[in-house]
Amino acid sequence: MHVLVTGGAGYIGSHTVLALLEAGHSVHVVDNLSNASAESLHRVEKLTGKKVPLDVVDLLDRPRLHEVIAGGSFDAVIHFAALKAVGESVREPLLYYRNNITGTINLCEEMALAGVKAIVFSSSATVYDPSNPMPLQEEATLGAVNPYGRTKLMMEMMLQDLQVSDPDWRVWLLRYFNPIGAHESGMIGEDPAGEPNNLVPYIAQVATGRRQELRVFGSDYPTPDGTGVRDYIHVVDLAIGHVMALERIAHEAGGVQICNLGTGRGYSVLEVLAAFEAACGKKIPYAMHPRRPGDAAVCYADPAYAEKVLGWRATRDLTQMCEDTWRWQSANPFGYADAPV
Ligand code: NAD
Ligand code: WQD
Repeated sequence: MHVLVTGGAGYIGSHTVLALLEAGHSVHVVDNLSNASAESLHRVEKLTGKKVPLDVVDLLDRPRLHEVIAGGSFDAVIHFAALKAVGESVREPLLYYRNNITGTINLCEEMALAGVKAIVFSSSATVYDPSNPMPLQEEATLGAVNPYGRTKLMMEMMLQDLQVSDPDWRVWLLRYFNPIGAHESGMIGEDPAGEPNNLVPYIAQVATGRRQELRVFGSDYPTPDGTGVRDYIHVVDLAIGHVMALERIAHEAGGVQICNLGTGRGYSVLEVLAAFEAACGKKIPYAMHPRRPGDAAVCYADPAYAEKVLGWRATRDLTQMCEDTWRWQSANPFGYADAPV
């Protein structure tokens, strides 16, 4: 298939572009590079020996988006492009609503004009109400608790409404849990701008000496060791899930599919820390801090539907997630900024 990948230069996007090329598909990326470097795609080119066309286009730039999509002959779109930092979304909600929602409206309108009515959408476990019992099934109560999460929920609803209005649309809403890890080559990985918000990128930067110590947010949760529990999923497993959803979309009639992508297994902050120490062979300094506002104690998926509907299940364990993160981070301590210019 010929696939437009929005946000394809980013963390999950670049791994998915690689997986798509390895599966024999052709890709075209649009990304405004607001949170990514074109170097990620240069490295995908090196790994695959294939060209990755990139248009540096903002989804808010409607005329340029029109040029890309109208002339593209795409079979489907995988839509990663979004802003994703929870704290920033609380400080700048309108930025998030405009970027994520208007960007998605522009994209879908241009897709409809070009007759491309198949989309795989990056959703998130953040759309579930935190008071749900675990594990989270797709039918669990929805209710995001921050502006970023609400943009994801609104985009899910928009895509479902669109499919009702025009039954030709084929929509896959993939709800990811906590993506970590990197491609096993160590050539591509997560490269957060500034201070990382998320646990594993932070630990990885402490391990390289770029940050002093990890702050563990909360040691009094009702969990076995008192720290928060999450369902960490290897980014390559996630990328493969996208390829499988895309290949399903090619053969199905219109409709909406909603699918968790997680492992079904939760690990605490201290368990992740221990696994990372084993992977990098160093002690990671850390200190206990108060809970981070808005954090849930425990969050993990029921991944059964993904296995039933897609035949997909995560196969890479926490050890591999940490080893692959460390391979990437130790070879690229400053991310893509380490690349020779
Ligand atoms: P990322 O920031 O690395 O990738 C997003 C990409 O979109 C970036 O390359 C950015 O430059 C681009 N982008 C943002 N706004 C754009 C716009 N208006 N026009 C064009 N390009 C734009 O993030 P990621 O971790 O790879 O996440 C990809 C998707 O998955 C996002 O939609 C995110 O919300 C979702 N998601 C991520 C996680 C996670 O923890 N990483 C979890 C669940 C869902
Ligand atoms: C994991 C655990 C923290 C950092 C976020 C978004 C969610 C989704 C994935 C996009 C928690 C603890 C963290 C640190 C810590 N993104 N922690 N010290 O919060 O589960 O999910 O990313 O959709 O929407 O909210 O992930 O990696 O930030 O935190 O102790 O420096 O690590 O308290 O228990 P989270 P995370």
